[in-house]
Amino acid sequence: MKTSLFLVSFLILLPLSLQDPTPEVKAPTRAHAELTNHGFPIGLLPLSVKDYYINKTSGDFSLFLHGTCKITLPPDNYLATYSNKVTGRITKGQIAELRGIRVRAFFQWWSITGIRSSGDNLVFEVGVVTAKYPSKNFDASLDCEGKRSVKPEATSES
Ligand SMILES: *[C@@H]1O[C@H](CO)[C@@H](O)[C@H](O)[C@H]1NC(C)=O
Repeated sequence: MKTSLFLVSFLILLPLSLQDPTPEVKAPTRAHAELTNHGFPIGLLPLSVKDYYINKTSGDFSLFLHGTCKITLPPDNYLATYSNKVTGRITKGQIAELRGIRVRAFFQWWSITGIRSSGDNLVFEVGVVTAKYPSKNFDASLDCEGKRSVKPEATSES
């Protein structure tokens, strides 16, 4: 009797555990998991992603943040900004047609148009110019800075 009860509960619980496989990486969201699935570190995205869509066939993705987001990237403290909507196409080791991420370097804002994973490095493409950084700099997903200032201002009547 005990054995069959055990078996029954096992069979009931089994589908539940299959539906929710333990992620092998500590990816905070599905969007972060998509990065690791394609050979990229999670730190390319801020911690909090509101919504995310991908066409599994083409790799075209759209992701939505809770607003524009500012992050200071280690180790050189480049300031990066994310639009509230970021789009592109992700395939194994490559993110192309990227829109929505800009980096401040050499006193200018640069739009990151693509990112490639190359061995232990990430190659950031800004048009035809590229810059290489160790992937391990992006192992942690950071929270947006100064979140309060990017939220829409509450219109106070008083
Ligand atoms: C996904 O991408 C494929 C290949 O480009 C395309 O044929 C298909 O229509 C796309 N699906 C959606 C829902 O956009």
